[in-house]
Amino acid sequence: MYFLLLQACYNSVVFQITQGTNAGFKNRVTFTMGIMSILKYPDPRLRQKALPVAAVNAKTRSLIEDMFETMWDANGIGLAATQVDVHERVIVMDLEGEQAAPRVYINPEIEILDATCLPYDEGCLSIPDTYETVERPGHVMITALDQDGAEFKEEAKGLLAVCIQHEIDHLEGKLFVDYLSSIKRQRIRKKLKKNRA
Ligand code: NI
Repeated sequence: MYFLLLQACYNSVVFQITQGTNAGFKNRVTFTMGIMSILKYPDPRLRQKALPVAAVNAKTRSLIEDMFETMWDANGIGLAATQVDVHERVIVMDLEGEQAAPRVYINPEIEILDATCLPYDEGCLSIPDTYETVERPGHVMITALDQDGAEFKEEAKGLLAVCIQHEIDHLEGKLFVDYLSSIKRQRIRKKLKKNRA
């Protein structure tokens, strides 16, 4: 997910130079560029329902790292694993940008605390250059696992509440354009197709 006002530039390409230890005469350069490609609407893989993470392990943490890299590189504030074609219930978020407040949610569930809906202009890394107003409940309780597999609860209001619902929708194979009229959705589909051509 991303919002117009929160776009910023980050330099997130990380590379590591590893000195050869046993060879002695050569340096080995390892690039750990975790930037994954983001599926774009209307790719049918965005409609696949993600499965719960059975065990949080090193593989999960490596996926999380790559998802952060990918999200920051694309100037996003939220990314669901579904968007990088990994169909597991993992979400990363950084609402403040500039890697200030990275958040991880594994197997997230929400409980609506106040059903009063908030209108937000939503955008999505899978639906480039498109912003539309969507209304969602503005106060929820999130229960999820962190990157060590420990359960936590977080009360969310405003942007965080909206963003977690947008990202959980991705895990269900749902996109924010599904909340719009079919005429509007068709128009967005056509525009994206034209921009890609
Ligand atoms: Ni999105």
